[in-house]
Amino acid sequence: MGKRTIVAMPGDGIGKPVLDETIRVLDAAGFEANYVEGDIGWEFWCKEGNPLPQRTIDLIAEHKIALFGAITSKPKDEAFNELAPELKEKGLVYSSPIVGLRQHFGLDICARPCKTYKGNPLNFIRRGPNNTIEEPEVDAVIFRQNTEGLYGGVEWSNPPDQVYDALMTHPKFKKNFGETPKEEISVSTRIFTKKYTERILRAAFEHAKKYGYKNVTVCEKQNVIRETSGMMYKMAQQIQKADFPEIELWNTNIDAQMMWLTKNPEIYGVIVAGNMFGDIVSDGFAGLIGGLGFACSAQMNPEKGIAVFEPTHGSAPKYADYPVSIVNPIAMIESACMMLDYIEENEIAAKIRKAVAEVVEEGKVRTYDMMKMSGRADVVDNGAASTKTMADAIIAKL
Ligand code: NAI
Ligand code: MG
Repeated sequence: MGKRTIVAMPGDGIGKPVLDETIRVLDAAGFEANYVEGDIGWEFWCKEGNPLPQRTIDLIAEHKIALFGAITSKPKDEAFNELAPELKEKGLVYSSPIVGLRQHFGLDICARPCKTYKGNPLNFIRRGPNNTIEEPEVDAVIFRQNTEGLYGGVEWSNPPDQVYDALMTHPKFKKNFGETPKEEISVSTRIFTKKYTERILRAAFEHAKKYGYKNVTVCEKQNVIRETSGMMYKMAQQIQKADFPEIELWNTNIDAQMMWLTKNPEIYGVIVAGNMFGDIVSDGFAGLIGGLGFACSAQMNPEKGIAVFEPTHGSAPKYADYPVSIVNPIAMIESACMMLDYIEENEIAAKIRKAVAEVVEEGKVRTYDMMKMSGRADVVDNGAASTKTMADAIIAKL
């Protein structure tokens, strides 16, 4: 088979250094690919009035696999102010290009693995019996529905008459909100469809089966949000019974789950949730394994075979101007490993993960976050590894 082509989208701020270093690691590990650069982010909003140019969409549609760094988003008025003068009269409205990508390609499946690296000084620890200190080994993968639910964008302030009238037909709306003037009402909807609920559930179960996880937990709030959360859990029961009887199905509420997170995180395998609760629970788990410097993700549309791999962190704009990049590239490197899994370059993925694990466990090379420093430009002078030094250390292990 010929070389793969990967669309590389550095985006803004620290997106560029972490992606550059990740590509160096991929090369060193023997992954042969051509990288074509995809324009995305603030620069293209300011210059062209579009942070996600059509040419980038075309590149992804053609090559199907993309690595993405991070983008900067700013509030509406700031976005307008930074537009090139000749674009200001065009009535352009800024919207996040990563949300745009998700919607355009229907990247409905988001996977966020959170696995403890031995020796990571950022690992969660807790008190055990007799005042002992325990460091639970977390190995959870969160499957988050990525396109529907509370982030689906179906919302109004002062809703149009038809919407208001429809809401008034619901007895609870009428009772609790019927006296409030329409102008004082804001509504954000939480829509789940069977098709996409089934897809995220199946993706979660299949992942559990493929990688040997013993349980799948639906993390929602089905005792209160009966229609949407309730539907997800009921469908999970059916799917488990019919196709995955060997995997245990658990059911937790998002609020309780966040509490249990620090009590017994090691018992969870695959967790599946709607858009917002998936967002919350995945950040919660990421915090246990080192936070933003370690949190990776994949966003996929299995039907179209399109997948975008990215760290969870943003563009950290204040760090972008430092003469030497100080941020941890591991989240981006881990995201690239998820890409390798996806295209079944499992040996190379395993090799990179082993190299990262060795560097972390050895503890000689640590970025500022791992040294618990605050992220200033002088951290490298004070013993922290730069982005590049961390990548070099990983490459040396390869
Ligand atoms: P952020 O993730 O960019 O940074 C928050 C803080 O986390 C940083 O100040 C830094 O202390 C730490 N951090 C982030 N990445 C790190 C790394 N690789 N290694 C070590 N430490 C790291 O989030 P923030 O400050 O809320 O947002 C900054 C910009 O990024 C905003 O414009 C926001 O809209 C955008 N953003 C973009 C995302 C994306 O591209 N997917 C996701 C989140 C935010
Ligand atoms: Mg989040």
